[in-house]
Amino acid sequence: MKNSKRKLLVTSALPYANGAIHLGHMVEYIQTDIWVRHQKMQGIQCTYVCADDAHGTPIMLRAQAENISPEELVARMRKEHQADFADFFVEFDNYYSTHSDENRELAETIYFRLKQNGHISSRVITQLYDPVKEMFLPDRFVKGTCPKCKAEDQYGDNCEVCGSTYSPTDLINPRSAVSGATPIEKESEHFFFKLPDFEGMLKTWLHAGHLQDEIANKLDEWFDVGLQEWDISRDSPYFGFEIPDAPGKYFYVWLDAPMGYFASFKNLCSRRGDLNFNEYLKPDTTTELYHFIGKDIVRFHALFWPAVLAGSGYRTPTAVYAHGFLTINGQKMSKSRGTFINARNYLDHLNPEYLRYYFAAKLTSRIDDLDLNLDDFALRVNADLVGKVVNIASRCAGFINTRFDNTMGKILAHEALYQSFTDAGQNIIALYEAREFSQAMREIMTLADKANQFIDEQKPWVLAKESGREQAVQNVCSTGLNLFKVLTAYLKPVLPVMAGNVEQFFNIDPLTWSNYHTPLTNHRINKFKPLMTRVEQEKIDAMLNDAGKQTGQAKPKTTKSATETTMEPIASTIQYEDFAKLDLRIAKILDARPVEGAEKLLQLTLDIGGETRNVFAGIKSAYNPQDLIGRHTVMVANLAPRKMRFGVSEGMVLAAGPGGKDLWILQPDPGAQPGMRVK
Ligand code: 2FM
Ligand code: ZN
Repeated sequence: MKNSKRKLLVTSALPYANGAIHLGHMVEYIQTDIWVRHQKMQGIQCTYVCADDAHGTPIMLRAQAENISPEELVARMRKEHQADFADFFVEFDNYYSTHSDENRELAETIYFRLKQNGHISSRVITQLYDPVKEMFLPDRFVKGTCPKCKAEDQYGDNCEVCGSTYSPTDLINPRSAVSGATPIEKESEHFFFKLPDFEGMLKTWLHAGHLQDEIANKLDEWFDVGLQEWDISRDSPYFGFEIPDAPGKYFYVWLDAPMGYFASFKNLCSRRGDLNFNEYLKPDTTTELYHFIGKDIVRFHALFWPAVLAGSGYRTPTAVYAHGFLTINGQKMSKSRGTFINARNYLDHLNPEYLRYYFAAKLTSRIDDLDLNLDDFALRVNADLVGKVVNIASRCAGFINTRFDNTMGKILAHEALYQSFTDAGQNIIALYEAREFSQAMREIMTLADKANQFIDEQKPWVLAKESGREQAVQNVCSTGLNLFKVLTAYLKPVLPVMAGNVEQFFNIDPLTWSNYHTPLTNHRINKFKPLMTRVEQEKIDAMLNDAGKQTGQAKPKTTKSATETTMEPIASTIQYEDFAKLDLRIAKILDARPVEGAEKLLQLTLDIGGETRNVFAGIKSAYNPQDLIGRHTVMVANLAPRKMRFGVSEGMVLAAGPGGKDLWILQPDPGAQPGMRVK
């Protein structure tokens, strides 16, 4: 893989053009941007493209609500999105739109190729139709009473109270979320992509190293139920591309969205002589294609997309890398809790590199959710970046600037220490490559501790007062600065702007993975300027204050989330795959208290390894809450959140016994730690 001829095309998921970028989105763009910057530091050709995902019913309806054309809405959102990304220093080589000529052409080509190869079928289906608005209603635009638990005001695809999934026609008293009218059933012809044609190909592809193991294993479940044909058409009115040989029918947004990756790249190729579009698309290509995505859209990228590409004679992705969701202070981002933080809310108050570092310090190659705990955020950034890294430079630079005419010493005061810093590079670079950013940050901070320790021991401020020790002061401070320079190179994918300022201070060429180890001796530097200030609590408060002011109805989701679970009736036996769906975790009970107005319930605060959960458990008859605090137990961590009269319960604690006083929570042997998965 160390071939400098490698050619990579990297993408992040295309954000919908009907909403602002929020911090949840930023996990992915920051993760991808760090990886891409690392690739570019290797000197290989790596191209990072993205675009706005412009099509679909929600965008059409939002434009109508604003009394503007969808094109106007899309153009405005694209500007906002691009500004947000740029201000977070996410550096795309191209940012485009799926509503573009390049994308239309690609979508049409792929569709005709699929059709020619016999992978498109058509049949008449029945769907709910809004007779007032005169449009077919996507599942999320139908609301009604859950057929199972009778909870009111539930979406047409699944119930947020009992978790059951159903079709919108099963809802009791359905109504259109667009007009409020009672929908009628109406027939229409739809086109389908014959996914089952690709069963063999996908079974092999899923386990050929293109996916994280956890994702590949999860996707295996699709074969158990049998691959279904995928509906790729939508009826007018729809904002999208009309299907050329079927007037009044449009490509479903999820058909042309991934093609938007290539459309953006094609648009870039038209301006760049060094990039050849066809070289990246042909089936026998040696170029590499990487998609970074959230875990909720895995099936689109790891099943439909490779099959569509293979079916139309194109290359398939080299890898699809999924990440988990962002929680804030241990909970889902929420408008009512004031933690739905838009990118702009953050940028108005805080330095983007704080967040880039914090996310890097938590990101791994796995799909675990990532928590932004705002207290921890301030502590960590202040301790690591300001207290450790920048501190090295602040302690040494002044001496070189003022006493030595901005000139670094001729020799290093501690060759071996410097050597150990540069030796660490190979591992850190490998960690970036493997997307183990959290581990990379830990290695870098251990080195920063060592550099500070060196300065503490050498005490240049004491040496400076002793006569005849001038040279020693210069060499010690130059060594400190050289160590700092190596650390800056290691942090450069994460902190590109600070690294740029450091390069300017040192008066050097851009740091890369091939020059980071060269020490600066007898070299003139520039005047040191403060590189980073501390995170201030008032700024965090001000950001939260702005976030709290945001209202607006939650936008209807257009995809189902990967974490949604289905409640099945209790069966006498279950398959292993059913059992494997349970995410059972060791939980530490941080707090337990009675619930006012609830006879049987205790409210538990559970720690499942860096994430806290609020759970209402019917164990009051058996336990005094005080006795539970500090104990470990087992919880179901992936149960869909359940709205109760007292709040939302985010999981379930396991207990056994007939009831009353005879009820026992499960308790693991000592040694089990919060967050561990029960296997
Ligand atoms: O889930 C989403 O936000 C989609 N707009 C992502 C599309 S990614 C790609 F396939 F276009
Ligand atoms: Zn229900």
